[in-house]
Amino acid sequence: MQPLLRLLQDGQFHSGEELGAAVGVSRAAIWKRLQALEAEFDLSIHKVRGRGYRLEAPLSLLVSAASGHLGSWPITLLQQVDSTNAEAMRRLAAGAAPPFLIVAEQQTAGRGRRGRNWVSPFGENLYYSLVLRITGGMRQIEGLSLVVGLALLQTIREAGVSGVGLKWPNDLLVGGRKIAGILLELSGDPADVCHVVIGIGVNINMRVVARDVIDQPWTSIRQVLGAQIDRNSFLSRLGAQLERYLELHGLHGFAALREEWEANHLWQGRAVSLAAGVQVVEGRVLGVDDTGALRLDIDGNERVFSGGELSLRLRDDS
Ligand code: BTN
Repeated sequence: MQPLLRLLQDGQFHSGEELGAAVGVSRAAIWKRLQALEAEFDLSIHKVRGRGYRLEAPLSLLVSAASGHLGSWPITLLQQVDSTNAEAMRRLAAGAAPPFLIVAEQQTAGRGRRGRNWVSPFGENLYYSLVLRITGGMRQIEGLSLVVGLALLQTIREAGVSGVGLKWPNDLLVGGRKIAGILLELSGDPADVCHVVIGIGVNINMRVVARDVIDQPWTSIRQVLGAQIDRNSFLSRLGAQLERYLELHGLHGFAALREEWEANHLWQGRAVSLAAGVQVVEGRVLGVDDTGALRLDIDGNERVFSGGELSLRLRDDS
């Protein structure tokens, strides 16, 4: 972690003298350093004569584990990256051996489902990519993103957000607003050697975003609870939940978790429209099947839908 940011993360004033002494530069050189940090991480640092410097708002910065592991996964903590999923893919291509975990304080080109951006300001949220080797063929992938959704749901509940639920395939919503999302990317051939990058983005302490930058209603744990969350403990709890759910999924497949998933599905029984590109179908949500595909009742007939490019909306009259 940046030593200056480690000191400033409490949001309190720190004198130029104190900051200078901490990084071994003169008081006069500190403002230049802080301006460089502001520009690099898009931060806002206030300077007040006689009091010193402070961040516009406190941060809870991530601390690298001394062991370099989170649970049983080796972890790399980056200050800034284009996308943790993209970085994970590059490391795979360069021969890194899964499992491994990439976490970043900021993404400059975070990606969401269906070609969307994932807004990823410095030090506020969680940007997390877990890379696993797939040895069990398609069965190991079926329903995987929904199972990751369950692990994330439990972690967000543990943080104190009781009103969180799932929206097929793997959005997490509170009061109709998105709080977390999941993007799975595959590399290789599921019938042969294959890896999956499980990308997870959680709005933890995000407070404000310039207008129109996020094109859907959103919230954050901080907004729901009205208090800043310790991101390090969220990170380790997420690891524990993921290990538990991935093990269950590996042993029994999605079928064993299907009931739990449906019990947490916010749109169970609701009238929806499902878009695949320009094609739209309308129906009522029956639930999911043993592979995690969506079951819809369309004019009295059950039809099943799966695929990453599908987008589900509530019908106005639902
Ligand atoms: C969605 O559209 O709901 C999926 C969002 C996934 C965002 C996460 S943040 C960490 C990882 N790296 C990325 O570039 N995307 C995923």
